[in-house]
Amino acid sequence: MKILKYTMLIMIMMALSWSCQVPNDTGGSADLDSRVESLLKQMTLEEKVGQMNQYNGFYDVTGPAPSAGDAKNKYEHIKKGLVGSMLNVRGASEVRKMQALAVDSSRLGIPMIFGFDVIHGHKTLSPIPLAEAASWDLEAIEKSARIAAIEASAEGLNWTFAPMVDISRDARWGRVMEGAGEDTYLGAKIGVARVKGFQGDDLSANNTIAACAKHFAGYGFAESGKDYNTVDVGSVSYYNVIFPPFKAAIDEADVKTFMNSFNIVNGVPATANTYLQREVLKGKWGFKGFVISDWSSGREMIDHGYARDLEHVAELAANAGSDMDMESYAYVKHLVDLVKAGKVKESVVDDAVRRILRVKFELGLFDDPYRYCDEAREKELIYHPDHMAAALDMAKKSIVLLKNENKLLPLQNDGRKIAVIGSLAQDKDSPLGNWRMAGEDNTAVSFLEGLDAYGVDYKYAKGAELITGPTAFPVELQVNTTDKSGFKEAIRLAKKSDVVIMVLGEHGLHSGEARSRAHLGLPGVQQELLEAVYKVNKNIVLVVMSGRPLAITWADEHIPAIVEAWQLGTQTGHAITQVLYGEYNPSGKIPMTFPRHVGQVPIYYNQYRTGRPGPKNEVFWPHYMDESEKPLYPFGYGLSYTTFAYSDLNVEVKGNNKVEVSVNVTNTGEVAGEEVVQLYINDEVASVVRPIKELKGFEKISLEPNEYKQIKFTIGEKELGFYNGEGKFLIEQGAFKVFVGTNSEELLEGEFVLE
Ligand code: GLC
Repeated sequence: MKILKYTMLIMIMMALSWSCQVPNDTGGSADLDSRVESLLKQMTLEEKVGQMNQYNGFYDVTGPAPSAGDAKNKYEHIKKGLVGSMLNVRGASEVRKMQALAVDSSRLGIPMIFGFDVIHGHKTLSPIPLAEAASWDLEAIEKSARIAAIEASAEGLNWTFAPMVDISRDARWGRVMEGAGEDTYLGAKIGVARVKGFQGDDLSANNTIAACAKHFAGYGFAESGKDYNTVDVGSVSYYNVIFPPFKAAIDEADVKTFMNSFNIVNGVPATANTYLQREVLKGKWGFKGFVISDWSSGREMIDHGYARDLEHVAELAANAGSDMDMESYAYVKHLVDLVKAGKVKESVVDDAVRRILRVKFELGLFDDPYRYCDEAREKELIYHPDHMAAALDMAKKSIVLLKNENKLLPLQNDGRKIAVIGSLAQDKDSPLGNWRMAGEDNTAVSFLEGLDAYGVDYKYAKGAELITGPTAFPVELQVNTTDKSGFKEAIRLAKKSDVVIMVLGEHGLHSGEARSRAHLGLPGVQQELLEAVYKVNKNIVLVVMSGRPLAITWADEHIPAIVEAWQLGTQTGHAITQVLYGEYNPSGKIPMTFPRHVGQVPIYYNQYRTGRPGPKNEVFWPHYMDESEKPLYPFGYGLSYTTFAYSDLNVEVKGNNKVEVSVNVTNTGEVAGEEVVQLYINDEVASVVRPIKELKGFEKISLEPNEYKQIKFTIGEKELGFYNGEGKFLIEQGAFKVFVGTNSEELLEGEFVLE
């Protein structure tokens, strides 16, 4: 009898446990909501709070590592359903194992979502995001994100902490490498392209992943360019410069998650900023996804002097709309008690959990928690030749030709004696850039390997190392080298060569998070090396590899040919070689102003006129006594092996706040080339002062020699309007200037009046 009773009990328990499963997916948003509600009703408060908790895995640490005590409970917490997400776990089999702990051991079997920093490629690395932005090629950028999603999902991942859509005007800040530069319009277009690439058309497919617009908000305006530093900018800047790329990610690409930022916003840390997360993001903008904190940004509110202790962190962050806690352990430790004490309403927790569950349903994780854990796919897709080809295409399009005196470029592979100098020329690691994450170190095609593959006969001399100290982390222990012992060999080689290609710039990990620089010249002894070689041979092609704009002013004044090659990822060497030898005509345009000197920073094209716009002949206007106020290279600047002429600018007001602009662009050179035609406007008088010009349209076109095209732009309310300090969108009548041209300074000018 007793056995029968237990059997019956087990049968009932099993039936009960299965009844906690969610109803099958019959599709549609209403159905999604009902599935979420059905599951939410079954969850205990502890299980709900568990969904709001994200732990770091055991692979990469991308922030201050937690105290060992906190980390030891991870497995137990997963089995109890107290972990909604993991970051930094990857590999189909590893994710499967971790997922099984949650699905098989916890009461409701709710699958975890696995997040990772898929920033510029996953295993096949594309150029750093700032380099991709220099292509102005939205299709190529979307494809680059698509491929990153294919490889990341093949490794079991279903969520990336990208795109970073922070606008920044300060090249001292190391994370400029991770964004799309200084301009809001271009940054919004690129952010949308990246979200679409990651999320694809069907989020439940096993090769698409949820994207994350980060860091919300204002992180790129850190004072002095120091990462994590104070941000203190006015609401007009938030509404007109900082917010639009975030809003576009929702409105035009349905981004599923946001990440809030480390910095304060108007004195309140973003993670606990109700105005930012509830009033703007979830209120005005109607965001339906969920918000994750940045790594321990919750706990860091104690350091900010905003929270008393971790319990207070949990209370402030949850009430302010930060839905998931990355590595602060605040929610998992305190949120249940805070709800029981009435300090956080259970409805606040329910809202956060609904948002999280909804994304998991959309990813298909409830239909198949192991959908992304297919080892066969992993083997087939990682480093797929198609991905390599796309990475090469993206890299070529990202390169910017900054100077080309006497048509030194493109080089002819005609037996001239070529010298190659600079440690970066043989470097297979730095070109991968920072935020390479799953990328394998030393897997870039070096420049020398690119020359070899192209069949170029050259001699090489390193000249000087970049750094001394450990070549990987902790980068902080690395110092720029002072050793000039290699100069002699380099100079000897340069003397007897026809052309010298110098590859100089930054170590791959000297930009990125926590990598701010106070100087923007060529690091270490590279400037001295450049000048020493120049003394014996002026026929120099300078290839700059960097994660940020550098103040290469001496080079611009002396070196005949200069190419910005950023950090181009896996296919670096092939891309640079094919551009230097004319296989691809460079078409890149800088997405961020290059300063003449770090003292000019922050420097950007779309500045306000001020009350003394200058330049005037007297001293009373914004200028320096010891430096030009002009940039070295302006936003949108980039040359080609051909030339383009702009003519016949026509501006027509069509009524209803619509203006049509057209211009003719002719290829006046001898080779085919691509040109990024740029449209800027200036609202001359407005109730909130407007920048002297703002990018409001662009089109990348290809032209054969002597071919011309008429390019048309339509300016509408979205382009004409602006936000006032209260966040109200305004379109005001009055006089506007309109500019069209090849960069933010070389422009045809027109005007119109909005009636
Ligand atoms: C880092 C970064 C953020 C990243 C996160 C997880 O500190 O600020 O961009 O996504 O932690 O690695």
